[in-house]
Amino acid sequence: MDSKSKDLLEKLKNEHSLDIKDYEYLLTNRDENLMDLAASYAREFQQKYYGNKVFIRGLIEFTNFCKNDCLYCGIRRSNQKCERYRLSKDTIIACAKEGYDLGFRTIVLQGGEDYTYTDEMLCDIISEIKSAHEDMVVTLSIGERSKESYKKYYDAGARRYLLRHETANPKLYARLHPKEMSWQNRMDCLKNLKAIGYQTGAGFMVQSPGQTDYDLAMDLKFIEEFKPDMCGIGSFISHKDTPFAKEKSGTLEVTLFCLSLIRLIYPQVLLPATTALGTIHPKGREMGILAGANVVMPNLSPTNVRKMYSLYDNKICTGDEAAECINCLKQRIASVGYEVVTAPGDRVGHCFSSERH
Ligand code: 5AD
Ligand code: FES
Repeated sequence: MDSKSKDLLEKLKNEHSLDIKDYEYLLTNRDENLMDLAASYAREFQQKYYGNKVFIRGLIEFTNFCKNDCLYCGIRRSNQKCERYRLSKDTIIACAKEGYDLGFRTIVLQGGEDYTYTDEMLCDIISEIKSAHEDMVVTLSIGERSKESYKKYYDAGARRYLLRHETANPKLYARLHPKEMSWQNRMDCLKNLKAIGYQTGAGFMVQSPGQTDYDLAMDLKFIEEFKPDMCGIGSFISHKDTPFAKEKSGTLEVTLFCLSLIRLIYPQVLLPATTALGTIHPKGREMGILAGANVVMPNLSPTNVRKMYSLYDNKICTGDEAAECINCLKQRIASVGYEVVTAPGDRVGHCFSSERH
């Protein structure tokens, strides 16, 4: 670790802001000592705001049909080898109930961009879940839709929305996505979600094909400026049936370092140790927690569809029942000295009331 890196890290810890060039410098000059120091600062903030608590959200992957064709993603519409499924309204509601009975107070309804689920259907699902379980927080992660649609889901009771920006660099965005997809539209969606009052999650892929340290530094700057309530990051992992099949997957180290930097940029942020992290290393999620993450998202989807939601190769947890998955995660989290809590887990200091808006 050179003295400039140490000074920059110190500055980030105190001021929660750096120039893009300085983020880039930290990424380029990353070594084991710098990573350790970043992780120990990150744990100080984690401890200060959240103690040793790790929040848990149940993920229901309800459709793998997708109208998009992102070059990296295994469920892109051109992937003819992907076996498709949709869960019925009743199945989704039954999964939510199972989650509730297992103690979850936040569920994430995630899917490809599948307009077979109309606004009316989605609102119906959201409001049924809310009326069955008043204290369940419903999170959506269904991609880009209009502001009007987002407002309808909010009015039906959804309060959180996850939409990764994928990359803060429009040029890199254009290399990872087909022509018809627009970086600007994605950014507008994020702004709309925030304006409506959603607790909003953004996020990016680490080491996606062609990504430079400067690109990653732009992502860190974006997080600093946009201040999403949650930030989901994971390394790019190649999928055999995509145009990026032969591209190198990202490394555990760079993702862990990014997690620590994000915690320093925004100490109260909700930061998941993602399934992608658990996929690139058997102890990836535990290491993610030790690098500053404080959320895990086990899968509540029915086991018979799990394998089909294959965004990247070798995705973990595709064979386990929800209950097994939670117990496994609880043990993993406990093994590094943390405790899983099922409460909705707001970002601290966030004014969150179902009465708002
Ligand atoms: N590797 C890593 N992450 C991926 N995602 C999609 N495909 C891949 C991949 N091959 C991520 C994207 C998307 C989220 C649902 O999964 O960031 O937003
Ligand atoms: Fe799903 Fe371990 S978290 S099996």
